[in-house]
Amino acid sequence: MELKELLIEVFESNTLIKGVISNKTKASKLDINKIDIKPVLLKTEIFIQFTNYVGNQVLHENLNIYEAKERLLRYMESDFKQMVLFTKDGDHQVLVSKKGKVKIISKEPSKNLVEISHNRQKQYILKEGTPYSFLTYLGVMTEEGKVKQQRYDKFKQLNRYLELVEDVVGNIDQDFIRIIDFGCGKAYLTFALYHYLVEVLNKDVEIIGLDLKENVIQFGNETAKALGYDKLKFLKGDIQSFNEERPVDMVISLHACDTATDDSLAKGIQWGAKVIMAVPCCQHELFGKVKSDSLNGLLKYGIYKERISALLTDALRASLLEQNGYKVDAVEFISLEHTAKNIMLRAVKSDNQDKNVHEEYDKLKEIFGIKDFHMERNL
Ligand SMILES: C[S@@+](CC[C@H](N)C(=O)[O-])C[C@H]1O[C@@H](n2cnc3c(N)ncnc32)[C@H](O)[C@@H]1O
Repeated sequence: MELKELLIEVFESNTLIKGVISNKTKASKLDINKIDIKPVLLKTEIFIQFTNYVGNQVLHENLNIYEAKERLLRYMESDFKQMVLFTKDGDHQVLVSKKGKVKIISKEPSKNLVEISHNRQKQYILKEGTPYSFLTYLGVMTEEGKVKQQRYDKFKQLNRYLELVEDVVGNIDQDFIRIIDFGCGKAYLTFALYHYLVEVLNKDVEIIGLDLKENVIQFGNETAKALGYDKLKFLKGDIQSFNEERPVDMVISLHACDTATDDSLAKGIQWGAKVIMAVPCCQHELFGKVKSDSLNGLLKYGIYKERISALLTDALRASLLEQNGYKVDAVEFISLEHTAKNIMLRAVKSDNQDKNVHEEYDKLKEIFGIKDFHMERNL
């Protein structure tokens, strides 16, 4: 295996415990004498922390895994002759000869370090090493519970999603919970939610995944059947025309397109759902509607206008939720590196309402010259 491949494997599978880069080359112009590296979790993303020893000073730097890989390759090409990576799967010693030839010696992992790293590990809801039937069925994990390298982002996303659910599910203080997942797509998150509520929390639920696409509905129903998830069903339909007579306690809408998010939020409000969670996807509506001479210096640039319009859309959505008796927070869903559409609106039915919220809403619309707004029309 080449050094580049080794670094990609170690970083992407998040198995690094620590590393030491030492033995500087004579030709190196760096002022760093030695470097220690270790993974650190910043918000929702793993970074590699470099501890650089420069004279008497110790300097820290956090790089994302791709920057870290490039940096280490550069260092090992011209500045250092030795690197040791201690990982959960093995200890790897990298040696560079005078002629620049790279040799990698791998052996069994140092046991005590693996134990320390296990103790340090964040307690995720879905744990690596535990085979979950829905994750093995969906190809995220092997039968032994190892997360497949190319599915690691999905695994992290599912855990982050369940963490966000965990924070609010206590607001639905009842044994039976009916949930609609609008625009469920291939439904990885819907299966994760079912697993968490039924198999972890022992709740009695009914979950309906709705989508426009026949193929994803068929896939969802077949998968639910194979897994024995008998209170989970998938229906083909459009959010806007979907009706449910029975009480709905929780509405989910993750990356449903454009105004489909508004339709989901409006349905949730009309049903009086106790929890509503939505991550918008594309927000085109207001791009064609924002107009403000005094903000021309900002809005004349297409990309700023696009981003401002998207943020404005979500602020107006949040406000309408608040106006209808919800407490709303906007939280980061997954790392920006994977998608810019990463802010979740999480709304919980509440008795308290901010008195200024109607005024704020009108003011926002006035500033940006918005005459009408899809979600408002829907309510
Ligand atoms: C980007 S996918 C997201 C899938 C899933 N929620 C996730 O986050 O992994 C968006 C899905 O929303 C569905 N969708 C978009 N508009 C819809 C509508 N009006 N009614 C029902 N489904 C819709 C699409 O068919 C698509 O499968």
